[in-house]
This record gives sequence, C-alpha cells and structure tokens, in this order.
Amino acid sequence: MAAYPYKDRFPVNRTLPEKGRPRDEVLAEMRSLAVEEDVAWEGGKVSGTMYCGDHDHYSFMNDVFGLYAHVNILQRDICPSATRYEGEVIAMALDLFHADAVTDTEPVGLVTSGGTGSITHAILAFREVARNERGVTKPNFIKPETGHPAFDKACHLFGIELRQAPVDPVTTQVDVQWVRDHIDDQTIGFMGSACNYGYGTIDPIQELSDLALETGLPLHVDGCLGGFILPFGEELGFGIPVFDFRLPGVTSISADTHKYGYAFKGTSTVLFRDKKWRNSQYFFLTEWSGGKYCSPGMDGSRSGGLLAATWASMVQLGREGYRGYAQKIFETSLAMQEAVKSHPELKLVGSPSFLFSFTSDEFDVYHVNDFMRPKGWRFNGQQYPNGLHMAVTRPQTQPGVVEAFANDLAAAVEYAKEKGHEPAASGAIYGGVAGGMTDEADSFIKMVMSDMLDEQQALPPEA
Ligand SMILES: Cc1ncc(COP(=O)(O)O)c(C=O)c1O
Repeated sequence: MAAYPYKDRFPVNRTLPEKGRPRDEVLAEMRSLAVEEDVAWEGGKVSGTMYCGDHDHYSFMNDVFGLYAHVNILQRDICPSATRYEGEVIAMALDLFHADAVTDTEPVGLVTSGGTGSITHAILAFREVARNERGVTKPNFIKPETGHPAFDKACHLFGIELRQAPVDPVTTQVDVQWVRDHIDDQTIGFMGSACNYGYGTIDPIQELSDLALETGLPLHVDGCLGGFILPFGEELGFGIPVFDFRLPGVTSISADTHKYGYAFKGTSTVLFRDKKWRNSQYFFLTEWSGGKYCSPGMDGSRSGGLLAATWASMVQLGREGYRGYAQKIFETSLAMQEAVKSHPELKLVGSPSFLFSFTSDEFDVYHVNDFMRPKGWRFNGQQYPNGLHMAVTRPQTQPGVVEAFANDLAAAVEYAKEKGHEPAASGAIYGGVAGGMTDEADSFIKMVMSDMLDEQQALPPEA
C-alpha cells in the first residue's frame, strides 16, 4: 500500500475522537493541506479538472455556499429560494442551448450531481419511456466508442445492453450508418458527444438528429464537457457546428455547470426537449408509513449550497463573462495546437477545439509524457492509439503558459526521438496493451484498478 497521506505530519484518526479539537486548529491544519495541494494546478500545467481556477470566484461562491450549505432542498416549504435557483439554472441552460427553437413541446430540465448524474438520468428516462410507450423489455442503447464511460455505467446500472458504434479513425466521429444498421425494436435511443472527452471532437449531431427523426428514437447530446463553452465558441466564430435544440432530433442535452460553468464540483444540468422525458423518471411512493415521498431524480436530500453557488456563478459571470473566458481558452488552445503542429513527429487527432489530443507514429508518445511530467505537466493519457490530451482551462490562459508548453514540448520531442519505440515508463500505466487487449490483460488491469480504488478508500493503517 502507498504511504498513507500526511500520516507523518498530522495525527491519524482511527476512531471518533472523544474530545473535539478547537475550530481554529482544525481549520489551520486543513487550510495548510489545501493551499499546498492547489500549487499542483495553479501554474496552468494541469489538463482539465480545474476549469475555473480563480480563487476570487471560489471565494465568492464559498460565501454563497455558506448561506445555504445546511439547507436540504428536498424540503421546499422551508426553502422556496431553492425553487428560484433551480428553475433559473435550468432556464439559463435551456436558453444557452436554444430551447426557444422548440415550439411544439415544453422544454424542461433537472439539476443533478455531475455529468454522470445527468447522463444516468437521461438514460433512465429513455428506458422508462421506451417501456411505457413501446413495451420495450430488453432495452439497448447505442453510443460511439468515444462516448463517455458514464453511458456504460448507466446501462450497467439499469440493465440496458450497450452497443458501441465505431468511429472514423481520422475524424474520430461516429459512423452514423453503423448506428442506423444496429437499431432494432428494443433500441431506446443513441447519443453523440459535443464534445467527447478523449479528443475534444464533436460527433455529426446534425446527421444523428436526422436519424432520430427518421427512426422516432431519442438522441442525447453529451455536452457535459463542452456544454458551457462551445456555445460561446460558436458565438465567437470558432467554427463550432450546431449541436443543440435547434436540431429537431435532439431530445436531451447534458451540460456540466461544475466544468466550464465554473461552479463548484457537484452540479450539472440535464435538459429535455419535452417534459415527458424528465417526468418519466420522477419517483413517487404514496403508501409508505413514513409519509408520502417523491423526488425528481435519484438523489434524496441535496444541499442548497451547491445549487445556490451554481446560480450565483452563472448570474455573476453572465454571457459576457463566459464569452470572455471562452475567447481566451480557445485562443490558448489554438496556440498550443500550433506548438504541437510545429513538430512533424506529432499528430493532432481530428479537428479539436478547446481540448486537443496528439499522438505520434515516430515514437511512443508516452516518452513525451515521461519528459514533461517532472516539469509539472499533467496530461490525460489515452490508448488505442496511445495519445495525450490537454483540456485547456482558465489556468492555461495565464501569461507564459503557452510558451512554457512550447519549450517543454520541443525538448520532450527530442527526448522521445532518442527513445523511439522502446517502452515508455508512463505508457505502461496509461497506454494501451501492445498488440491489443487480451482477456488476461483485461483481468490484470481490473485487479490493479480495484487495488487503486481500495487504496483510495482505505482505512488508516494501524498505529
Ligand atoms: C464528455 C464527458 N461526458 C461526461 C463526463 C462525466 O462527468 P462527471 O465526471 O462530472 O460525472 C465527462 C467528464 O469528464 C466528460 O468529459
């Protein structure tokens, strides 16, 4: 087992302490850890994850969070403000995705706990409607290979067969004909990403929308990552195709406020063209001895703090604020992509936008990672083919980051050229299995991942 974090610096709690500690002492200890850990990303070398990175904005949202953190928004009679915040977060997100183009049905939404939550609620809605309206008992759902694992997880949880559509190896966009050919009478829907996590590329949503209309099936657009930045990229002329409710076949969209919405972790939105989808997965229990119960989604009690901070983030920034940050992020991403393109040994994958991925035919690209990691760069590792991706966020837009990237990348390419195709150290962890996946490798990797998860939830070691 890896060393238990901070055991040499602070007391380890193996039981609930009999005597409480002074608040200022607890706070000082925790502050010192938080401040130290923030250093890892503050310099702008970490891909994704810290989408905002602005401590002033965090501090503003912390003030708001503190007003409502103790409130359970399941109990609306004592917190009517939650209805205001939730309704307005949904309305603002619907507005961003042009729900005004929907004239024949009533667009609605839900605020969920994150991207996985939003996707899971959409899949549940698709399954419920398919069962109620078409008597589907052996449901299947189709996603492009590049679709996020949250779709696999939702299908796993809800007993749905997941059919995985191949993508074009050059554009990384889904093969729409494959999707068409694999739809049957038990298909509950399909999805496209705007954009996907791996490559930052956008599926042909227009074609998928046409297919949805042709087949009468629902189409989910996963905008968890791109939802709060691509619309501004479109407005700014960065060549973003239409992927929202302006396309008549788009049934639902997931968009994470806790990513480029710059809200705190723990919130996302899922939006439906028609109320029937959202309401199909409402939960009611009318005869329970504990009273009558209902909830709009899978969560029971929810903190008002996150919802209020999300609302505050959106109204404080406004379209102008989001547009300004999007401009800087797109420009930074394009400049970093230019640095990649300046090396003939590296290949950008597809047509990326704010998130780009690169690979190499000349050497194992994980040598680039091996060289850049000790300099503080933290890319996301990809496989089949091995690749590295960078989701550009606000910390990368700081002065000097693009230049540092270009310089470190140039040195990394020289290092990788010397190493060629010999195995790279980080490739063994993040890269694909040479020669392709086998059952044996699959079991081994799952065992390693299971150990890692155990370690992350491990009890403190014995004294
Ligand atoms: C495209 C896409 N969809 C869904 C998700 C899942 O979001 P979360 O991690 O908030 O559950 C992510 C996360 O990175 C993503 O990039």
